[in-house]
Amino acid sequence: MTTLDVSFCRRQFPALDTDWALLDNAGGSVTPRQVTARVTEHLTRRMVQLGASYPLSEESTHCVMQGREAVAALIGASRDEVVLGASTTQNLGLLSRSLRLSPGDEIVVTNLDHESNVGCWRRLEASGVVVREWCASGGAEDPAGVELRLSELEPLLNSKTRWVCFSHCSNLVGGVHDVAALTERIHAAGAKACVDGVAYAPHRLIDVKAWNVDAYAFSLYKTYGPHLGALYLRRDVQAELEPQNHFFIEDEDPAYRFMPGGVSHELAVGLPGILEYVDAVHAHHFPEAAEAPLAQRVAAVFELFSAHEAALCTRLLDFLHELPRVRVLGPPRGEDPRRAPTISFWRPGRPSSSVPLALDQRRIAIRWGHFYAHRLVSALGLHGIGGVVRASFVHYNTVEEVERLGSALSEVLHD
Ligand SMILES: Cc1ncc(COP(=O)(O)O)c(C=O)c1O
Repeated sequence: MTTLDVSFCRRQFPALDTDWALLDNAGGSVTPRQVTARVTEHLTRRMVQLGASYPLSEESTHCVMQGREAVAALIGASRDEVVLGASTTQNLGLLSRSLRLSPGDEIVVTNLDHESNVGCWRRLEASGVVVREWCASGGAEDPAGVELRLSELEPLLNSKTRWVCFSHCSNLVGGVHDVAALTERIHAAGAKACVDGVAYAPHRLIDVKAWNVDAYAFSLYKTYGPHLGALYLRRDVQAELEPQNHFFIEDEDPAYRFMPGGVSHELAVGLPGILEYVDAVHAHHFPEAAEAPLAQRVAAVFELFSAHEAALCTRLLDFLHELPRVRVLGPPRGEDPRRAPTISFWRPGRPSSSVPLALDQRRIAIRWGHFYAHRLVSALGLHGIGGVVRASFVHYNTVEEVERLGSALSEVLHD
């Protein structure tokens, strides 16, 4: 079985040429040279306004469009279903303002999600929309059981439910939800599914068509790209929404109606670099399959990524399970397919800040806090100790880095 050549991957990321172990990737990933080269080239040579008739403008327009095409290819959608914006928070806010809802219509949000998929929906309450809360199971005494369950959603669904907004993977718990099954149930209730895929996208293949979601958001700066957010909006869903761009923006590029002010051109042109990087990984591992369709090449690479990440998770979880009184959120086994490599923990009574601050001395980058999953940290009763400690890996992290982290945690939390 082919395994990931992590050294090959790391060589593509100039920022990894450091003695720091960068283990805060759920905060943001670093970028491969394929992305930075494109951004630099655009700023250096091609930074003119789009849409004019002269050749440099035509080239610039083409390159920005290629950015959206690359995102579409990455998630199994088409370009006119991809909205690019400054961030997921901005994209979901825009979506919430685009819905044509009436007083009494209902929206379901969770108490587990990052606030970007909660707050914008809750603000609709001011116009008479009813917002219901889907509460995560488990709790501080059962941290492995913290997840969104269909059984808790069922009683919230009724004929007035319009949208259910939930996360594919929590940025704190690291547990992966079954989006296809949840979406099927939501559709059966006559509602639509808006999924926050930010904490999932860096780790596994995204297939919006297979899951049949209505809206799917993720952040490119956590998925090896520049600081942008992507929002998939299914074509028929777009048709029901109130466009957010100028009234004269026509339908030939439907998603552009949801991109007021456009997108940062120099960042969008970097996006094909993500695919180029993924393809370089593919060519390195599967030279005999170079002619396979792009979707298959991307899928094969994400298989390699997730197998390696599972091994990293297992290693850290082994360390954590040995530490006295430490509580760990999410699935306890690293190789569990429901487990993403985002691992949060705490020790009751101990300020969470004390751990990353001690690890800074050892050149290991992790962090503490509520990570904008403020309501979940409230539900767990952890604000008093400053939230959780979180370490988060992606495929370019090494077993050695995780061993360094594990040993440092064993020293810091041994008593
Ligand atoms: C799960 C999750 N959703 C949404 C967001 C918000 O993303 P952005 O910074 O692009 O607004 C984050 C950011 O950390 C996140 O982790």
